[in-house]
Amino acid sequence: METHKAHCLIFPYPMQGHINPMLQFAKRLQHQGTKITLATTKFVFKTLHEVSGSITVETISDGFDEGENGVAVDTYYATFQKVGSETITELILKLKDSGCPVDCIVYDAVLPWALRVAKSLGLRAAVFFTQSCAVNKIYYHVYTGLLKLPLEESKVEIPGLPPLSASDLPSFISSYGSYPPIFQLVTHDQMKNIHEADSIIYNTFYKLEEEVIDWTSRILPIMTIGPTIPSMYLDKRLQDDKQYGLSLFNPMTNACMPWLNERSTSSVVYISFGSIAEVDAEQMEEVAWGLRTSNYYFLWVVRESESNKLPKDLVKETSDRGLVISWCPQLEVLAHKSIGCFITHCGWNSTLEALSLGVPMVVMPRWTDQSTNAKFVTDIWKTGIKAQSDENGIVRRDVIRQCISVVMEGEKGQEIRKNADKWKDLARQAFDEGGSSDKNIKDFVSKLIQS
Ligand code: UDX
Repeated sequence: METHKAHCLIFPYPMQGHINPMLQFAKRLQHQGTKITLATTKFVFKTLHEVSGSITVETISDGFDEGENGVAVDTYYATFQKVGSETITELILKLKDSGCPVDCIVYDAVLPWALRVAKSLGLRAAVFFTQSCAVNKIYYHVYTGLLKLPLEESKVEIPGLPPLSASDLPSFISSYGSYPPIFQLVTHDQMKNIHEADSIIYNTFYKLEEEVIDWTSRILPIMTIGPTIPSMYLDKRLQDDKQYGLSLFNPMTNACMPWLNERSTSSVVYISFGSIAEVDAEQMEEVAWGLRTSNYYFLWVVRESESNKLPKDLVKETSDRGLVISWCPQLEVLAHKSIGCFITHCGWNSTLEALSLGVPMVVMPRWTDQSTNAKFVTDIWKTGIKAQSDENGIVRRDVIRQCISVVMEGEKGQEIRKNADKWKDLARQAFDEGGSSDKNIKDFVSKLIQS
């Protein structure tokens, strides 16, 4: 007989950067006695390299069971909405028939139509935002018409946020008109029915974004539950929780962990641009030369789809100091004593991981929310420096080399390290017994049971 208190269906957008945080939240709910089922697309399920045993995964369809193969973004969204609504409804009815009815859908904010599915079936709906509170506040400001676009001023003032330059804003705003379907989704669709959700969940923690969380809480009853990092890297209360557990890529653990074990403390530069950013060939070459001339060991993740842009012979010529691999177990890498700094695109997960593990950063934002995350890393949390791009948007090799040396050596590097330690401590405290995120997760479960 099942003994769970309630059953939550977790529904992330089928991308690594969205699955990881929602899956971690799910594990926390499971620890509080909630049954969890995670829904992903048939295509993603087929291509998974790692599936954790602790979570039940069920499949739905986005209409592209053999892969989307370059279909236009707006066509993809529209098809996903239509076919996804139908197939997630079928899944919920199937679970009901099998004696395990769903009580609540925890859906990704970028799948806003899931709220209607939940309500039409009489279920609770909790919306999960995978990006920072600051970024959501900026999008909400655009939604309410308070931030007019295209930008009229070079500085933007938004309550709860430091003054921001255009270049600190998410790319869909600073480059108004780029990616219209994503702009519409983040500044309008994901906001428009937010007030109808029973819970609004943010992957951040109170101390990290105190001011903007306070401001946002005046208009929206948000609940912070982050950082969504496996427990063994934070509070260590979930003994088996060491990895995310659903990987769309093949982590080359056997290639990189023994290599790191041979390196001395804080001697390696780790570099990755996450799971989706496409870096152009010229930028790749500058990164390669920056690493090469920096004289430090480096571990560089270049996804298979990007590998054709690597300068010829780089791997061979730098094999005494560098290791280039197509994917790694990033948390294990960041937690390794040999890592001295992280050159990152500042995806929100990578940013939270570096903060939670106390790793100094060199930030090289590419697009979407990353410039705003980068601004907070350098100017608010002060755990990294920015590698500035030139007038063509390229970060040159000398800049990269200099940034590495600032963070790895010298006074500024020490200050950054001290701040990184402080944030690592505060991230853990959010999840210790009675910490802000721990408390919010328990409140979420008790409301679920009472409903
Ligand atoms: C995207 C956006 O870029 C990001 O800004 C947004 O907030 C979420 O969606 P992505 O670009 O993939 O995500 O970056 P990030 O948010 O950092 O997520 C990448 C995840 O993949 C991280 O959890 C990281 O630990 C993991 N990863 C990355 C690996 O496990 N191995 C790797 O080699 C690289």
